Amino acid sequence: MTAKAKMANGNAFAGKYTGAQSEVIAGSGATLALADGTTLLDFSSSLFGYGHQAVLTSVAAQMNVLPQSTRMFLNHPLANLVTRLAEVLPGDLSVTYPCNSAGEAVEGALKLALGHQRRSGRSTFVAASGSDHGHTAGAAAVSSVRSVADLETGAPFRTRFVRFGDLAALHRAASDHRPAGIVVEPIATGQGLAIPGVEYLTGVREVCERVGALLIVNETATGLGATGNLLACDRSDVVPDIVILGSALGGGVLPVGAYVTTEAINDRVYGHCGPWMHGSATGGNPLACASAVAALDVIIRDDVARQCAAHGATIAARLVALADRFPDLILDSAGAGHLAAVHWRSAAIAATVSAVARREGLLLHSGRFATSWTGLRAPLIATTGEIDAGLEILEEAAEHTRQKAAS
Ligand SMILES: Cc1ncc(COP(=O)(O)O)c(C=O)c1O
Repeated sequence: MTAKAKMANGNAFAGKYTGAQSEVIAGSGATLALADGTTLLDFSSSLFGYGHQAVLTSVAAQMNVLPQSTRMFLNHPLANLVTRLAEVLPGDLSVTYPCNSAGEAVEGALKLALGHQRRSGRSTFVAASGSDHGHTAGAAAVSSVRSVADLETGAPFRTRFVRFGDLAALHRAASDHRPAGIVVEPIATGQGLAIPGVEYLTGVREVCERVGALLIVNETATGLGATGNLLACDRSDVVPDIVILGSALGGGVLPVGAYVTTEAINDRVYGHCGPWMHGSATGGNPLACASAVAALDVIIRDDVARQCAAHGATIAARLVALADRFPDLILDSAGAGHLAAVHWRSAAIAATVSAVARREGLLLHSGRFATSWTGLRAPLIATTGEIDAGLEILEEAAEHTRQKAAS
């Protein structure tokens, strides 16, 4: 084997895929098939889900017509996507910047907010803790959940962090620092799950109005039905100035991210050129847009938010029962629709439960850094059977972990 072939077999991905891991070869719904013949329920990624027929059909049809195009022209799937988003999103959110990842959308949103404040010279952000907005420089800079490496690469602007849910601290920080924007998730998903009362986001909106900052809401993990509403901020009847979408937007077929803002904000920054001024050669390509439009159609037609809410009631009830059964292992749990998390008594317990669950066929979300939380993020199209099966494996993994601790 050549040195390069050896690398491809092992370290070419900076260590992440080393070890005797099997490859994933197929996916359907929430279920992945591995090359070693086993299957795995993927509750790790808050994606749309795998292999939905309507999305596959739409992408296959587009593939045969125009998969990529020059950005000199509008393409039909892109026009459909921006129109669909304007139709389904609340308030005046009607101008979309399409791109290839949520991190890229966060980046574009931060740049838009800075552009919006160009005349005032405001160049900082206030962000709530507990969120991981992505790995690009700007997104990492507004993430409180980040690595030493992120910190060392240097942020392109200054961010003031306040505790998620603390409106008084947010108001103080925003008054002192006069930020261009305030960046929050409606439910903090970066370390476990912090679900605030509905009044929190209303309060954040008020702070934005008072200090003249744009409200940037990242709905990458929470949006498109996952928490039981199309957007998690619908729960508070709050319309952000800029909303970030990603993950599930790609329909489980292609990577798609987007920010959506109002015409007024867009015009002030980019005039009538639209957000294309902040361009991308590949963002908004016809194939990705066909995938996203098909995903949105499924989400709306099948009322995926209502399904997620119904599943969420089961998930939350079973996690409460789990905490009652394993008080020696579990401190707490939280859930909103398909997003849920268990707070274990230690990071070691969390790691054991995750490892046992993985062995038994359930992939849990453990975040970028090891903590005492594990997340359950069943894809949007997970079936009731898959949700039940995942919860059963989690319960078995807890039992196994208790027995291991006792032996
Ligand atoms: C809340 C949130 N923001 C941003 C991102 C980054 O997304 P991407 O990997 O598509 O850049 C993620 C990733 O899951 C996320 O959960």
